[in-house]
Amino acid sequence: MRKNIYLIGFMGTGKSTVGRLVAQKLGMEFCDTDAMVEEKSGMTISQIFDEMDEDAFRGMETDVLKEITERKNLVVSTGGGIVVTRGNMELMRSAGSLITLMASPEQIFDRIKDDKGRPLLQVANPLDEIKQLIYDRAPFYINTDCIVETTELSPEDAAEEIIRFVENA
Ligand code: S3P
Repeated sequence: MRKNIYLIGFMGTGKSTVGRLVAQKLGMEFCDTDAMVEEKSGMTISQIFDEMDEDAFRGMETDVLKEITERKNLVVSTGGGIVVTRGNMELMRSAGSLITLMASPEQIFDRIKDDKGRPLLQVANPLDEIKQLIYDRAPFYINTDCIVETTELSPEDAAEEIIRFVENA
């Protein structure tokens, strides 16, 4: 049984697509904190932000993370903001490897501009918001075991880079 692999990073950096590939190639199980929050609450992320608020979402996200962290052999795709809740970085670090996926703000914007399912980016100028949030979260995103820059990489190549790292760690 391997220790968990936690993929963190901003929205649109490829955590879910790449995470699925890594899990498949390493014979591990894949899970996604956003999908688990949606499943447990019976609401979409957008509904949770609209009908409750961001704090309520962050609470549910941490509950799911605690549950995941009791298990092993998982590749975990996390929501981009999971890093901002106090204690979550330590929780993930205690249970496995922490890997950040990065991409340029322009590439992120291009990848997610038509997706209405990201409530934090439903603002007048999403590109500015992306830049601001990345700036705010950068201290967390750079404090991991490995950083993979995905702007120019295919999901397949990003997955291979992660596998090379975990096999040699
Ligand atoms: C968020 C990222 C989203 C989701 C929620 C908040 C964030 O996940 O958790 O909309 O704060 O960056 P993805 O990174 O999977 O899009």
